[in-house]
Amino acid sequence: MRHSIRFTAAALLAVLVMGGTASAVNAPEHVIKYRQNLMKSVGAHLANVVLLAQGRVDFADGLVTNAQAIVDLLQDSGVAFPEGTAEGDTRARAKIWEDPAKFDAALEESLATVRDLAAAAKSGDLAVVNATLIPVARSCRSCHLSFRVRN
Ligand code: HEC
Repeated sequence: MRHSIRFTAAALLAVLVMGGTASAVNAPEHVIKYRQNLMKSVGAHLANVVLLAQGRVDFADGLVTNAQAIVDLLQDSGVAFPEGTAEGDTRARAKIWEDPAKFDAALEESLATVRDLAAAAKSGDLAVVNATLIPVARSCRSCHLSFRVRN
């Protein structure tokens, strides 16, 4: 664990020292990495909401902070699927760009569920939070089933 954190810090330092030179902005491989990082963050915050909602950990404001982060990050993920990023180290399916209306609808549907989750988190009622988690999980899964390559 500690090893991986040190490795990440070293990798980050290397990027900071060497990066920023004449490379193209929004190169497909960087956009792909960016959206995967966004999605990973959404998943991590959701995992924390589950820990809090099940009472396995108890930290003041944790629910509200993590639930709101899911809303903010998922909202941002819409721009992270531009044309030209279907190829490469990605599990995004070409269908995203073939049927963008359906993809946008899946994102909107998921956003509605995570907004409900954030509202429930603010209420502080764990039973309500737990109830809203089911539609959230379904909406993530539904989009992944349609638009993400299985592995
Ligand atoms: C509108 C569609 C859509 C919705 C909604 C969605 N995802 Fe994703 N997600 C994707 C796609 C597409 C990928 C693959 C991205 C890639 O590989 O470029 C992905 C990838 C991921 C990954 C893997 C990231 C990686 O490469 O390490 C995680 C974790 C994830 N999503 C979690 C979630 C969670 C949790 C939710 C619900 C709160 C969610 N996603 C909602 C489309 C969606």
